[in-house]
Amino acid sequence: MTNSPLSIARRSVLAAAGGLALSQLARPTQATAQTQNVTRAGDLPKRKLGQLEVSAIGLGVQNMHRTYTTLIPNRNEMVGLIREAHDRGVTFFDTAEAYGPHECERILGEAIKGFRDEVVITSKFGFDIDFETGERRGGRNSRPEHIKRAVEGMLERLGTDRIDLLYQHRVDPEVPIEDVAGAVKDLMDEGKVLHWGMSEMGLQTLRRAHAVLPVTAVQSEYSMLWRGPEGDVLATCEELGIGFVPWSPLAVGFLAGAIDEQTRFAEGDFRGNTTRFSPENLPQNMALVDVVRDWAGRKGAEPGQIALAWLMAQKPWIVPIPGTTQTNHLVQNIGATEVSFSAAELDELNAAVRQIEMAGARLPNAVQVMSGVEAPTKI
Ligand SMILES: NC(=O)c1ccc[n+]([C@@H]2O[C@H](COP(=O)([O-])OP(=O)(O)OC[C@H]3O[C@@H](n4cnc5c(N)ncnc54)[C@H](OP(=O)(O)O)[C@@H]3O)[C@@H](O)[C@H]2O)c1
Repeated sequence: MTNSPLSIARRSVLAAAGGLALSQLARPTQATAQTQNVTRAGDLPKRKLGQLEVSAIGLGVQNMHRTYTTLIPNRNEMVGLIREAHDRGVTFFDTAEAYGPHECERILGEAIKGFRDEVVITSKFGFDIDFETGERRGGRNSRPEHIKRAVEGMLERLGTDRIDLLYQHRVDPEVPIEDVAGAVKDLMDEGKVLHWGMSEMGLQTLRRAHAVLPVTAVQSEYSMLWRGPEGDVLATCEELGIGFVPWSPLAVGFLAGAIDEQTRFAEGDFRGNTTRFSPENLPQNMALVDVVRDWAGRKGAEPGQIALAWLMAQKPWIVPIPGTTQTNHLVQNIGATEVSFSAAELDELNAAVRQIEMAGARLPNAVQVMSGVEAPTKI
């Protein structure tokens, strides 16, 4: 990836400063400085996913073991960043067995030790990951006995006796969703899981799952760049009273200005394998960034804040979980809860966003085929 002056500066400062706290290193932008004054502990607005109350914006911890740009962040700094988020009112933290694998759950578990009961933590099962070593064996695995063992490992790594919201990460094409729901129900009966959710599932599978064990939240990709859920997914969630958690709400940094026409990705940066960020397609997709920048100017906000506020404006039961490894970005992202649109503004912004057709595919084929999958029916 092309390095912005900020990222180059940050990396060299990090290298020189070793163990300094991230908050000491971050240099807030002007707009960030404004939001810092108004974002105090505990005063973030709340939203409901089904019956589960969370802060209106959460924090995704996926990249805390390795960033998209392939940097391995300082672990203590990541623990500090999660604590900082809590201090600033974030009560919703998103991880998965597959992040690391295992390592992000450990980082989150360590970070929340002192305030476990004040936050809602999620994790996800569904990939075939070795319980002991964390090795990815390839493919998916939602067999009931696998889910139960996976959850035991999660509880240990997260240092807790329950997972507030447990998602199936991807539908297993071999396992009826009723069997998955049955395993989750057993875990609920034991008090090890409080709510459950699904990610990138097929719609009929969502309906079948909800019919046997009410689903609290769906987590699928949704942003100004990828608006796939505006088809049937959001309507189904609304009908069934299920909350929605957009992943990659900043389009992996694109909507926050982290990618432009000149950006080329380092080997190992997943974003380089998605054609929506290819040199051919970036120029067309940048039209969206122009819209976001224009609105940032109009609202006196940062571009990423417009992207997050837009998501929250779509439905009151949408809770984005931007991921970051930087304090100034965390503060900025939280500040999106202070950006609002009048009905007329929202109509105008929606129209501008919907006019822009994304060029390229959102994910590499091998990943995309795991989305929208319907589980087999139970015989
Ligand atoms: N269910 C699923 O299948 C699934 C899939 C993917 C992700 N997720 C979840 O969703 C969370 C968020 O998704 P994501 O991390 O893929 O994408 P994202 O939140 O859209 O974007 C994260 C990227 O944007 C950068 N960024 C964040 N805030 C920024 C700001 N204010 N200004 C400039 N750059 C900023 C981050 O870099 P810095 O670290 O430098 O800030 C990072 O590279 C993940 O952590 C994970 O919990 C779930």
